[in-house]
Amino acid sequence: MKFSSNSNNFAGQGMFQILAQAKELERAGKNLVHLEIGDPDFDTPANIKQAAIEAIKSGDVHYTESGGLFELRQAAAKVTQRSRGFTPDMDQLLVTCGANMQIYLAFACMGDPGDEIIVPVPYFPTYKSSISSLGMILREIPLSQDNNFKVCATEIEKRITSKTRAVLINSPNNPTGAVLSAQELKDIFYLARKHDLWLLCDEVYSRQIFEGTFYSPSEIDHCKERVLIINGFSKSFAMTGWRLGVATGPAELIRRMQLLLQTIISCVPPFVQRAGIAALTQDQTEVVKMNKEYAERMELMYNGVQKIDGFSCTKPSGGIYCWINIEKTGMTCGELATKLMDKGVVVCPGTVFGCEGYIRLCCCTSKAQIEEGLRRLQTWKM
Ligand SMILES: Cc1ncc(COP(=O)(O)O)c(C=O)c1O
Repeated sequence: MKFSSNSNNFAGQGMFQILAQAKELERAGKNLVHLEIGDPDFDTPANIKQAAIEAIKSGDVHYTESGGLFELRQAAAKVTQRSRGFTPDMDQLLVTCGANMQIYLAFACMGDPGDEIIVPVPYFPTYKSSISSLGMILREIPLSQDNNFKVCATEIEKRITSKTRAVLINSPNNPTGAVLSAQELKDIFYLARKHDLWLLCDEVYSRQIFEGTFYSPSEIDHCKERVLIINGFSKSFAMTGWRLGVATGPAELIRRMQLLLQTIISCVPPFVQRAGIAALTQDQTEVVKMNKEYAERMELMYNGVQKIDGFSCTKPSGGIYCWINIEKTGMTCGELATKLMDKGVVVCPGTVFGCEGYIRLCCCTSKAQIEEGLRRLQTWKM
């Protein structure tokens, strides 16, 4: 049988492939510490689960508006007012199955095959996968540890061509933990405006900030002109398995993204959306607790990694990952990841994020597990 040449470009997300490999080893009896995938070990707060259970019991189990429940969009708009200082219109909001699909929907609406998207490297793998599966070109900006993995407007401008359609920014960053300042982000916004480019702001880690403050360029254009906020419930509310997100952007972009979403999934399950309303509107005690715990775990992991011979790490300012330079080990990140799996700890090689010489560690497991993971990482030479 023949396959489309386009499907040769489907790369998926490397960390899921590593997780599958680890699960197979566990089925065969191996004990592993999981530091590879950004899936919090926290349970979804009980009130959020209860909202979904009640929705199912009351028969909220049918098709619904493909743009998302009005009440959920309203709740998201209120949160945007509190967190970013503006209230988006209802037609600027799109409820999706997680933030991941927003990336694909957005690129599909922004460019044609051969068009270019500027993305800092390392990057979250869906950017690359989506861009190449649409026949577009990812124009890389290699980031440097010497500059704390920060991207700046000058470096972006050097890569702009007549084919450029969009710039993608992810702050706080997965995998580096870098958080861009308000001024750095404003400079990028005004550069995008100067060249009439879309600005995709992946803000899924906006609540996980340990140093500095979160800033969204949407505060400038209120998502009316060029900013698209990519956001989801996975990390902030420990809802990875629920697959829920809300994108905020210019109405015409959202309308087109909605048509594509309608084509692929029709709508997001209504009881999942009801859980989302509870997450946004009810008590935030659990969310605050989780964020405090993330900060403590990050500190523990960062301090522990500094003590491992051959490893070094720039202190993350946000997010839930440590991005470890392993060049001094003399191994490729793939070789090291394989060796570490053998030693009982699962990590993500940097190549998953487009970058050799690094591995990514994740703080989604308990402090005790992180300590055990650090012990196992120390054995990399043996
Ligand atoms: C930077 C970034 N964007 C988007 C996503 C997708 O999140 P979701 O689970 O909401 O699809 C992730 C998930 O890890 C991420 O790290």
